[in-house]
Amino acid sequence: MNRKIVTMLMAMAVSVSLTACGSEGTSSSGNTDDAAANNEAADAADDTADDAADSASDSVSGMANMDKPLVWFNRQPSNSSTGELDMAALSFNESTYYVGFDANQGADLQGTMVMDYIKENIDSIDRNGDGVIGYVMAIGDIGHNDSIARTRGIRKALGTGVDKDGDINSEPIGTNTDGTATAVQDGTLEVDGQSYTIRELASQEMKNSAGATWDAATAGNAIGTWSSSFGEEIDVVVSNNDGMGMSMFNAWSNDNKVPTFGYDANNDAVAAIAEGYGGTISQHADVQAYLTLRVLRNALDGVDVDTGIGTADKAGNVLSDDVYVYKADERSYYALNVAVTAENYQDFTDSTKVFAPVSNQLDEGSHAVKKVWLDIYNAADNFLSSTYQPLLQNYDDLLNLDIDYIGGDGQTESNITNRLGNPSQYDAFAINMVKTDNAASYTALLSQ
Ligand code: BGC
Repeated sequence: MNRKIVTMLMAMAVSVSLTACGSEGTSSSGNTDDAAANNEAADAADDTADDAADSASDSVSGMANMDKPLVWFNRQPSNSSTGELDMAALSFNESTYYVGFDANQGADLQGTMVMDYIKENIDSIDRNGDGVIGYVMAIGDIGHNDSIARTRGIRKALGTGVDKDGDINSEPIGTNTDGTATAVQDGTLEVDGQSYTIRELASQEMKNSAGATWDAATAGNAIGTWSSSFGEEIDVVVSNNDGMGMSMFNAWSNDNKVPTFGYDANNDAVAAIAEGYGGTISQHADVQAYLTLRVLRNALDGVDVDTGIGTADKAGNVLSDDVYVYKADERSYYALNVAVTAENYQDFTDSTKVFAPVSNQLDEGSHAVKKVWLDIYNAADNFLSSTYQPLLQNYDDLLNLDIDYIGGDGQTESNITNRLGNPSQYDAFAINMVKTDNAASYTALLSQ
């Protein structure tokens, strides 16, 4: 096709889709009749826009890489020492977002789940009867906001947290069998007139010698070391995720009947609840994986970002507000968490199943196939490889996205950025960083 016509058609597509944004924006807050009418108008406009855009570019949009839709997921661009969000990365262009989950809400749930378990099992929990309920904790990554929140959530609920700079200290303590560590304190629990001490006996960042964090094998070794020197004192095992939690459960706590708690609701962990794994938290990866791809799809379609999210799309996909929140000032979507325990685990046995309210196939006529580059920071990460990526692979079909999945080594950013050699081949990007400080190594490549 002649270049001039292509440019004209693209300009038309943009102006039509801008109209579409306006009407969909109104419909999401307006009354239902108007909303339906607006939706139809918007859909018709979308179709025209899509048709025009499709004929304008069969391959990649012709857009500059720096303007293409970009979503960060699972590791939020942020300062790994202070937790401060990297707003330059989060607002790299108009179609940039982050998708993750509500770390504080999830952390509170995990803490409460463990505390409730202790109270309900108070007659048997203190295995050596010394009046001290001892727990050990596997920490994922001391520079990762989600890991920090989970460590704090446990210490807050169990009364073992101490203040540092206005928040609960989240540092690992090494071993603390005598209760003298300064980064934690002993908590106190009264049940039926009886008083117990709760003590964090040990905690450690599970980082292997090559530098990979959240490392399950390291956690398996740690429980071996801890149990051989003070195993009798360990009454509860807590982990920042299920990968490390299951490693400790399989290595020691299952045989010793010590309740072990994780996070992620991976299939193996949920199944282990039947055998005595204490519980886990679903971070609603089925909602996150959908949002990760949906924000790209919407930007590629030139429609309001809320389409198929808070506002139903033509295929009927929509999320209710009890499963996610959007914080516009952080340009971030956060899925909400759910506790998974012996009471409800039967409902969570397949972590890779798409979420029913957003499981409808988009029509390829008006949502043409687009090419996406997506990386998983560590191909060996338990949660990302066994739960998140299979979900993404289910949704990519429904959303007509042709995705190249790149698996990193979990240690060096360049192992991944080296494989983003030709961004011009792609219509959009989904990025999972090794280190949350490193967003610029990606945006630099897109800005070239
Ligand atoms: C998960 C961990 C995972 C980490 C990777 C977290 O949200 O809970 O299991 O290792 O993401 O960044």
